[in-house]
Amino acid sequence: MSDNEGLLSELARLRRQRNAVILAHNYQLPEIQDVADFLGDSLGLSRQAAATDADVIVFCGVHFMAETAKLLSPGKTVLMPEPRAGCPMADMITPQGLREFRADYPGVPVVAYVNTTAAVKAEVDICCTSANAPAVVRSLPDERVIFVPDQYLADWVAKQVPEKEIIRYPGFCPTHIAIRPEDLRRLKEEHPQAAVVAHPECPPDILAMADAVRSTSGMVKFAGETEAREIIVVTEVGLVYRLEKEHPEKTFYGIGTVICQNMKMTTLPKLVACLLEMTGEITIPEEIASRARQAVERMIALG
Ligand code: 13P
Ligand code: SF4
Repeated sequence: MSDNEGLLSELARLRRQRNAVILAHNYQLPEIQDVADFLGDSLGLSRQAAATDADVIVFCGVHFMAETAKLLSPGKTVLMPEPRAGCPMADMITPQGLREFRADYPGVPVVAYVNTTAAVKAEVDICCTSANAPAVVRSLPDERVIFVPDQYLADWVAKQVPEKEIIRYPGFCPTHIAIRPEDLRRLKEEHPQAAVVAHPECPPDILAMADAVRSTSGMVKFAGETEAREIIVVTEVGLVYRLEKEHPEKTFYGIGTVICQNMKMTTLPKLVACLLEMTGEITIPEEIASRARQAVERMIALG
């Protein structure tokens, strides 16, 4: 039996024994994507976490995603195979930093991208993901809205919701801002028939070159709907594995240098060890969780 076969049969035994569900983000390594019960974007994973009847949620992604799962399923055990996998963008804002920032805008509601810690979520009015950010901002009655922490997602939302003033916090995703316009331009020249789909964490000069702007799962849907046979995928390159698996009839061009190292920290051996030893448990102090949960649940309630 190969090492991998041994790990896979151990995983099969443990997930039954623990009554565990494995949730994985679309950027995860192929070996994790292949064993996930559900693969998705932040919004889809949150919905799965809220709906599951498993006893244990094993979350393969980054820390804020596992925290969101715990907020929505407080009675379940939520484990991360690699709890050190964080999101540098989420770490760009703290509760204190947010309080200081919003002090200049008294009475203005705060929308937090789900890429924030539970402690920051506890301070805001409502959360959003890349899949629903314009809808969340539109749902607020106010003319002015503070959007944290991603300035580029905020820019894109401002274009979709021109009737509101969006006050931007200066955070960003280091992975998406590293995408160079010249690389995308060259890919477009090499594949002139290809449609271009980009993630809204990209800066405006990149989004201006895209035919569509979508969340990661939105990109999978786009690949199924577009008549284009070739698609340039402007986001973390791990998504290309899922796209090729689900749409073998199409050709995808990712940008190989666009890698989120945190998303690659979770491996099959770590996943098996986590379920065996029940390590990497996510806990959130109740006085933070009760407030943070409201912000996430308000988002989920919008549908
Ligand atoms: P999605 O919710 O679109 O999957 O994005 C999450 C993320 O962190 C992208 O960098
Ligand atoms: Fe965070 Fe960017 Fe990695 Fe997404 S790709 S988890 S926003 S650092």
